Amino acid sequence: MKEYYLRKEFTLYNGDCIDVLKSLSANSVDMIFADPPYFLSNGSFTCHAGKRVSVKKGNWDLGNGAQKNLKFHIEWLKECKRVLKLNGTIWVSGTYHSIYQCGVALEINEYHFLNDIAWFKPNAAPNLSCRFFTASHETLIWARKNKKSKHIFNYNLMKNGKWQEDSLKKSGMQMRSVWSIGTPKPSEKLFGKHPTQKPLDLLKRIILASTDRGDVVLDPFTGSSTTGIAAMLNDRTFIGIDKEKQYLDLSIKRFENLRSTKVSDTAANKLNCNFLQPMLLEPKEKYVLKRKR
Ligand SMILES: C[S@@+](CC[C@H](N)C(=O)[O-])C[C@H]1O[C@@H](n2cnc3c(N)ncnc32)[C@H](O)[C@@H]1O
Repeated sequence: MKEYYLRKEFTLYNGDCIDVLKSLSANSVDMIFADPPYFLSNGSFTCHAGKRVSVKKGNWDLGNGAQKNLKFHIEWLKECKRVLKLNGTIWVSGTYHSIYQCGVALEINEYHFLNDIAWFKPNAAPNLSCRFFTASHETLIWARKNKKSKHIFNYNLMKNGKWQEDSLKKSGMQMRSVWSIGTPKPSEKLFGKHPTQKPLDLLKRIILASTDRGDVVLDPFTGSSTTGIAAMLNDRTFIGIDKEKQYLDLSIKRFENLRSTKVSDTAANKLNCNFLQPMLLEPKEKYVLKRKR
């Protein structure tokens, strides 16, 4: 399939992810981060800037009923499994609208679960109905291709790295499965907004936890390519797929801006560029142990 955008280590495809994944080589990807539609744009409401607004993210987020939604999750996860390398892992994010179905679809495809992470949003929007609890977390399932896979987990970096954004992470203690990370900062939306954009700090952590420098990271629902930006900042190669060109164009703007401002971590340190700190980078200490491929 022809690329929509092709640069060294950053490739975007426009199309349905199932079709695009079918066109990619088997066993070619080290890690997949997937943020599939939550299928919640069917008449519910949320709070934005203190006002009650309809949840209509786009036609891509309209559900087709439980059976068809589940079939969709089974199909894209099957194609993801084909492109993952033997030791590869996948992360799938969602709320209760979708994450249980994704969990079932992962099981049907015989992935092997590693963790479920509760991503707590300390600045989540309030609940205006006051009839149930305020939704303030999303779930991330982390799974490996199969039980025999020797997956990567950069344990020491997770334990001893700097995670200042997270008030729950205690310095020098093991990284736990509840992560406190705020929603995307205004600086992450300079080139336009994606309605379900993920924070860079979340993707940075995922990439640093489960890949090494030079690894290939794929996002089948790339949106504004937060995954791709985090991959670039940390010297990974990125492949993103989305069926909406407007989001790929936003991804390109984010990528080109980053490319024009990217400074090596040594140069950033020399210049004392603190603004890069929240996004960057593996520390200089050699936390990442060499692994056999
Ligand atoms: C939840 S959003 C991902 C947002 C992304 N994580 C970010 O940080 O910007 C899901 C994205 O998947 C895309 N999408 C939905 N169904 C798709 C499909 N079948 N194939 C490819 N892309 C799809 C939508 O256009 C949307 O941009």
